[in-house]
Amino acid sequence: MERADEQQVASLVDAVLASAKYRDISKELITRIAAQELRKRHNTKEALKATKNKLHQVGGAYLDTREHYTLWLNELKVVTLSGNRQRLLDLCATMMTYHASTRERIAILPQFYAQIFSELPPIRSVLDIACGLNPLALPWMQLAEEGAAYYAYDIYHSMVDFLQGWLALMHVQGSAQVCDVLQTSPPQQADVAFLLKAIPCLEQLDKTAGHRLLREIHAQNLVVSFPIHSLGGRSRGMLEHYEAHFRELIAGVQHWEMKRLIFDSELVFVVKK
Ligand SMILES: C[S@@+](CC[C@H](N)C(=O)[O-])C[C@H]1O[C@@H](n2cnc3c(N)ncnc32)[C@H](O)[C@@H]1O
Repeated sequence: MERADEQQVASLVDAVLASAKYRDISKELITRIAAQELRKRHNTKEALKATKNKLHQVGGAYLDTREHYTLWLNELKVVTLSGNRQRLLDLCATMMTYHASTRERIAILPQFYAQIFSELPPIRSVLDIACGLNPLALPWMQLAEEGAAYYAYDIYHSMVDFLQGWLALMHVQGSAQVCDVLQTSPPQQADVAFLLKAIPCLEQLDKTAGHRLLREIHAQNLVVSFPIHSLGGRSRGMLEHYEAHFRELIAGVQHWEMKRLIFDSELVFVVKK
């Protein structure tokens, strides 16, 4: 990129970060989108608008609010200390309603993880790529009791700080990190990687993201899912569309075993590489 372009991108990134709605997002991702939009338009005002739109599409559209995290962590602390499992499940389920992706999963949560884990070997470590609030579903997952590790990645600083506190409360090793997975493939190795409803979202910015991540992630087992309903509620043909898309993405790989699971709101592929 030419020097003038670099300066243009930098001031566009600053303008995005000046807005409270986007301040919390990975600077790496904002820079990537800003550069892409400037290349397309050369008009700073339009590029700023387009960058914010893209950030909304891939992140903000799913999230209700980010104001609650300190309060939430305290509530989780109290309930965890009480040892009352049902209260913990209820609280985590309530918190998961604040992100559209987990909200859509609440009704199927117990069968969802019971069925997925029954298809997997014993799991001691998880990578959760573009995780949203899904790490709050930990109490439903059948991880090894001792020494389990969970690595979660998303683009919101406040969200991953909260999730880091949650992992510590649950005595789970690993970490929650801000990571733009379009530019940095998670280096950690784990027994399973979750790519839950992540591929359609990431492919809005990079058409090659799904193809690449499926091959690059360091995990023997993958759990890849797709929404059957859109955020707006329309659902006609989504299952067929995403099934065909997933089969295209894994075309050409050899020796991968695959099991398809269909839930009311989600299509899941459990893959053994
Ligand atoms: C459709 S949601 C899926 C959330 C979660 N996996 C689930 O199913 O509950 C997509 C998530 O990807 C995150 N995201 C978007 N772009 C990303 C990127 N480049 N790197 C990492 N995460 C990203 C968003 O913030 C959002 O939480």
